[in-house]
Amino acid sequence: MRRETTERNGDMTILVTGGAGFIGANFVLDWLAAGDEPVVNLDKLTYAGNLQTLAGLARDARHHFVQGDICDRARVDDLLEVHRPRAIVHFAAESHVDRSIHGPGEFVRTNVEGTFTLLESARAYWRALGDEARTGFRFLHVSTDEVYGSLAAADAPFAESHPYQPNSPYSASKAASDHLVRAWHHTYGLPVVTTNCSNNYGPYQFPEKLIPLMIVNALAGRDLPVYGDGRNVRDWLYVGDHCAAIRRVLAAGTPGETYNIGGWNEIANIDIVHIVCRLLDELQPAAEGPHERLIRFVADRPGHDRRYAIDARRIERELGWRPAETFESGIRKTVRWYLDNPGWVADVQSGAYREWIGTNYGSRNGAAA
Ligand code: NAD
Ligand code: TYD
Repeated sequence: MRRETTERNGDMTILVTGGAGFIGANFVLDWLAAGDEPVVNLDKLTYAGNLQTLAGLARDARHHFVQGDICDRARVDDLLEVHRPRAIVHFAAESHVDRSIHGPGEFVRTNVEGTFTLLESARAYWRALGDEARTGFRFLHVSTDEVYGSLAAADAPFAESHPYQPNSPYSASKAASDHLVRAWHHTYGLPVVTTNCSNNYGPYQFPEKLIPLMIVNALAGRDLPVYGDGRNVRDWLYVGDHCAAIRRVLAAGTPGETYNIGGWNEIANIDIVHIVCRLLDELQPAAEGPHERLIRFVADRPGHDRRYAIDARRIERELGWRPAETFESGIRKTVRWYLDNPGWVADVQSGAYREWIGTNYGSRNGAAA
């Protein structure tokens, strides 16, 4: 690790956690495309972290990658001391609901203990800063709409005031981390901001999540496994729009507040799968016939939340953020990206990936692989 001898003033660097994952890597790439402020990127490189995504930054001095665990207090303390960031943008998490059902322990460790460790390290670092740097410092916690639970068809979308009712081990662990972040502000004054975003899609998403799984399976002629009746609804946001919202909250969000981020794009899963199939029929038709022939309804996910929808009026009104992509433009870009990057896809479909596909789909009454 590069050590710096002269102490900077805490005004020129941000620390990103989980910046080799789907959203974190998109954030780092967009951040360095938009400006010159350096990024220290702390990532454990679990199955979901992928340095290939950041290969374009290999010789970029503005990007300093550190492989490490957010639960490692000494490591985090050292990074803060050496790099003296003006902000922490915290993406690192275990993020997949199905994996949380099969193995919740890692979710509690990284999402709860890891966030606790970061908060404690940030608090010690922040307390010792000079007045100006202390006032400007931010801890931005990236969270999810899943903490609010499930909506019925006629319910209003989630506003920031919606009660927390997490239903999966994933959402419960994220809810716990949100509560810790909130408490570190109210008790210690740490200048935190929390964002709760809806489902993201876009380039570099690991093909365990709905949209990339459907794309890569359809391209390989494999089954497209739709859970239950396929009528569960998610509110989809293009990842670049989420990254823009985070930049905006970092720049202008009020400490102690939370901001819901969403695309006003509620779509049922089965409709998503049809959209993906039709785009592939247009862009890469299969000799065997329309990709919809591969759709299979399979056993539902236990505790499957029926509907998520975000009321994003607060971030629009107070910070002037709105999504730039429509679902039509975003999904076209996304399918195009997977078609153009077969090497990235092949690289992430390692033995461990195949093992996961067997674990998750083997016992359902339809197979994904
Ligand atoms: P991801 O699973 O693609 O990436 C997570 C990253 O965190 C990986 O690079 C992984 O190596 C790293 N990581 C995991 N455990 C770690 C640890 N102990 N120490 C350091 N690094 C560790 O996740 P994502 O989809 O990019 O989500 C990023 C954040 O955004 C998460 O906090 C998630 O809860 C939140 N979020 C995701 C979505 C979505 O649709 N994907 C929506 C809203 C919010
Ligand atoms: P997912 O991408 O795992 O995100 P989340 O569970 O965090 O919303 O799943 C999105 C929706 O797609 C969810 O309702 C579950 C459903 N789904 C399927 O129908 N089949 C699949 O193979 C997967 C992975 C998800």
